[in-house]
Amino acid sequence: MTTDDFLDTNDFTPRELGDILSLVRVLKDADRDGCVPALLQRRSLGMIFEEPSTRTRVSFEVAMAKLGGHALYLRPGEIHLGVRESIADTARVLSTMCDVIEARVVKHDTLVQLAAASTVPVINGLSDYNHPTQALCDLFTMMEHLPPGKTLEDCTIVFVGDRTNVCSSLMHAASSFGMSFVHAGPANYLAPPEWVEIARRNQADAGHGTTTVTTDVEDAVAEADFVYTDTWWWIGQEAEVPARRAAFMPRYQVTTGLMDRAPATARFMHCLPASRGVEVTDEVIDSERSIVFAQAENRLHVEKALLVWFTYARVPHDPPAELAAHHAAAIQAYLAEHQGEFVGAHRTG
Ligand code: CP
Repeated sequence: MTTDDFLDTNDFTPRELGDILSLVRVLKDADRDGCVPALLQRRSLGMIFEEPSTRTRVSFEVAMAKLGGHALYLRPGEIHLGVRESIADTARVLSTMCDVIEARVVKHDTLVQLAAASTVPVINGLSDYNHPTQALCDLFTMMEHLPPGKTLEDCTIVFVGDRTNVCSSLMHAASSFGMSFVHAGPANYLAPPEWVEIARRNQADAGHGTTTVTTDVEDAVAEADFVYTDTWWWIGQEAEVPARRAAFMPRYQVTTGLMDRAPATARFMHCLPASRGVEVTDEVIDSERSIVFAQAENRLHVEKALLVWFTYARVPHDPPAELAAHHAAAIQAYLAEHQGEFVGAHRTG
């Protein structure tokens, strides 16, 4: 794995992440005016999805189309990933045909193996550890919805609920920019010390921000600029649902009562899909304070920027005219000599 891949925001400097976010800005502005240039014409994206997805799948596929390229949806059972063929061999083959690979995987190690064997960039579309494309999207969305007079660095995110992959990547991306981060949840579901250690190191490097874990959600939201939540259970955790519901409900559900403890300018965020009536009420997610659909839309603009950032410079866009002329002449010569032999050439009627 190298920084040719996007597996974890911690592999990138705040400056690099900031540069990607600036690219999101210009590509979003261009999209608004119907002016996205075909920067990835004739490029192909292989999209591996071991789990279902709405936002990640659609945003990557539409992003590639808007940039003039093509995306392939590759599902386990339809490709040989890790079954009949090693993950590394699949990565090597995809690298010969695709210019970039996006993968949503059950185990983070699958991404690490893909990236190690691939000769094209691999982008993490969610793993059991993190969700860095979502985290970049969240930072960009926060930049668009800052409280009056504040910068990102002045802001505190209060993440309410489970220590999900979204929690870890948001904690790490936000701390890189010197934001403060609070994870408020039941004791057995709080972010582990190793995540917190990384976040605090990021904040020390940034010279700003704190990271806290607490069960005291009521006090935590009092300082929030952004209240964020995620699902309480995911695919594979079905057997844990009763225990999880009992641990989280009602204290960690984001309700109007909880939002009313936050400053009036605080916004509500969720990566989606949301379980309405579980981790968040309809009243909150549909309120004026909610920015969840602006956040979802920004996945598209972030994917465009990531695809350009990792792919654009890897291959020449304008082959030298002499080279193009050489190949055109060779192809024309072949056609002139052989077209009479092509299947159907002598068909009549
Ligand atoms: N937020 C997110 O990743 O959504 P999907 O699971 O629909 O891709």
